[in-house]
Amino acid sequence: MIRRVFVVGAGTMGHGIAEVAALAGYEVYIYDISAEILNKAIEKIKWSLEKLYEKRRISSVEEVLSRIRATLNFEEAARNSDIGIEAVPENLQLKRDIFARLDSLMHEDAILATNTSSLPISEIAEATRRPNKVVGIHFFNPPVLMQLVEIIKGNKTDDDTVRRSFEFVKSLGKTPIIVNRDVPGFIVNRILGAIQNVACHLVYRGEYTPVEIDSAVKYKAGLPMGLFELRDFTGIDVGYMVAKALAERDPLFRQECPLIEEYYKKGWLGVKSGKGFYEYKSPSDRPNIPKEAGERVNVVRVLASSVNMAAWLLRNGIATKEDIDTGVRLGLGYPKGILQYADEWGIDEVVKELEYIYNKYGLILAKPDELLIQMLKEGKLGRKSKEGFYKYAT
Ligand SMILES: NC(=O)c1ccc[n+]([C@@H]2O[C@H](COP(=O)([O-])OP(=O)(O)OC[C@H]3O[C@@H](n4cnc5c(N)ncnc54)[C@H](O)[C@@H]3O)[C@@H](O)[C@H]2O)c1
Repeated sequence: MIRRVFVVGAGTMGHGIAEVAALAGYEVYIYDISAEILNKAIEKIKWSLEKLYEKRRISSVEEVLSRIRATLNFEEAARNSDIGIEAVPENLQLKRDIFARLDSLMHEDAILATNTSSLPISEIAEATRRPNKVVGIHFFNPPVLMQLVEIIKGNKTDDDTVRRSFEFVKSLGKTPIIVNRDVPGFIVNRILGAIQNVACHLVYRGEYTPVEIDSAVKYKAGLPMGLFELRDFTGIDVGYMVAKALAERDPLFRQECPLIEEYYKKGWLGVKSGKGFYEYKSPSDRPNIPKEAGERVNVVRVLASSVNMAAWLLRNGIATKEDIDTGVRLGLGYPKGILQYADEWGIDEVVKELEYIYNKYGLILAKPDELLIQMLKEGKLGRKSKEGFYKYAT
């Protein structure tokens, strides 16, 4: 049974994860390399708890805070905890060192979890003598507000560890989805990576402009933000690093969009530098994306690559269609799952647009997945044929 949680790393994610665990009633240790960092983390947690108190979501800040112990004593925290959640910087050797240490100190039933976004769980697990109990528990930023958590199996993670991690995430009041293999980007970042890459290539090759695409995805598909607006918001530098990490580990992502490197090198980093795909007079500035701007855009063309990636995940047994759609709704804030969109657009339309992009620009991410081709052959065209990814009575 999990009673005490040990969060290693008190940065952006670590302090949020510690707060979420304390809110759910767990006793939490949080560790980092200096007292100063820990103090800042506790201040941030306090600030966030005060917001929750103002919104009447909790009845006492102090009570939740009293469950969190900031410590520089790694050994004591590890020995006393039932799950370790690592949230240190994205560096494989650093994570492996921490896992080896957790493994030597934590009791034999303890779960060792990593919050990594891009490193293989299996390689982190190899640093321990219990790779069966090592798992990815991938929170989204900020953990307190984001409902979704991906649970990722490494190649040796056992079913009991997955089940206990799933129950633990549910006990935090979050929605877990299962990723059966540690493929780069897992579910959500993989799907987002595909859309972002293809949309950027469509701009680079002159098919559409950023504002045309952003208008279409917002007003025709109902997405919460434009794709380029999102890039500017998260930072072109962050997107550049994520694209590099994906390209290094996965041939499907090797055709990086040259525009991103160009912007990165010019220092056009998005909102934080005042310029990216749009210009910003202040950090609170939002780009002007008129509804009419997207009129000539075929939104299926822009988003078909995400259906293609979802089909790839399904065909390879990496996730269920329900989990893929939950991931897209809760992780990306889309009003519907991507497979639901596909069924509405029609699988034939999706394949037609993928073929258009693949034939014209040679983008591998747009090469129609075998599953989509199979669905076409079987006449599973989506809502119009009463069956696509899902079945429909009418
Ligand atoms: N930021 C995000 O949006 C996000 C989202 C999901 C997952 N992640 C993943 O979460 C992890 C942490 O990311 P972050 O954004 O919180 O990073 P961060 O840089 O904000 O925080 C990392 C913390 O780890 C501490 N640290 C460094 N070396 C340490 C050590 N040896 N022992 C203990 N602590 C150490 C640092 O002092 C820092 O406080 C990464 O693996 C990242 O990929 C990040």
